[in-house]
Amino acid sequence: MDVTELDHPLARHLLGALRDERTPPSLFRTLTKRLSALLMAEATRDLALRKRRVRTPLEETDAEVLDEPVVVVPILRAGLGMLDAATELLPEVRVGYLGLERDDATFEPSSYYANLPPMTGARTFILDPMLATGGSARAAISAVKAEGAVEVRMVSVVAAPEGIAAVRSEHPDVGIVTASVDRGLNASAYIVPGLGDFGDRLFGTEGR
Ligand code: PRP
Ligand code: URA
Repeated sequence: MDVTELDHPLARHLLGALRDERTPPSLFRTLTKRLSALLMAEATRDLALRKRRVRTPLEETDAEVLDEPVVVVPILRAGLGMLDAATELLPEVRVGYLGLERDDATFEPSSYYANLPPMTGARTFILDPMLATGGSARAAISAVKAEGAVEVRMVSVVAAPEGIAAVRSEHPDVGIVTASVDRGLNASAYIVPGLGDFGDRLFGTEGR
């Protein structure tokens, strides 16, 4: 399994602003979308292309067009913040949804919603900004594989080494693209330094 830590000054700039606790939800959403576009560009780096001929205003030339079906699956809630960037870059994409909620005490995810399109033969990108213990990612990967997904990639904003190891042990074939591999998890299984509860910061529900 490959772990790619996005190495780009724009990504570092955006991540730094996301980490800042003073960033309000409106800006947090904008920054998430911008960083997600960079992450998706990296995650789709090896998508297949086919040749076609086009006529420029001056002459006919070779051009290329994407030639592979793609499915993206945001994990609710926080993955929704990454979805617009993916659909804007890939207008033909099919979108599936998985609702997973992590228990505050056990850190185990429970599933409350699933709506996945057929995935056989499609490249599948799971969008979840936080890869912490890896429990949600493991459950999501199992769910998409059960629908026929074969080539699966996790796209996250921040990943903890513990979460990467958990995904690696259960799904060694799944690649991970992230803006940062952080130091680890605290006693509440939050990523440190991290950026706090992503869903709450995205949707303004802190302190609920
Ligand atoms: C967060 C996050 C991931 C999960 C990561 O979701 O968006 O889905 O925790 O933690 P894990 O790797 O330990 O499973 P949360 O359950 O807080 O739900 P939310 O997105 O609705 O806030
Ligand atoms: N979920 C989050 O939103 N943040 C973390 O640090 C861990 C899980």
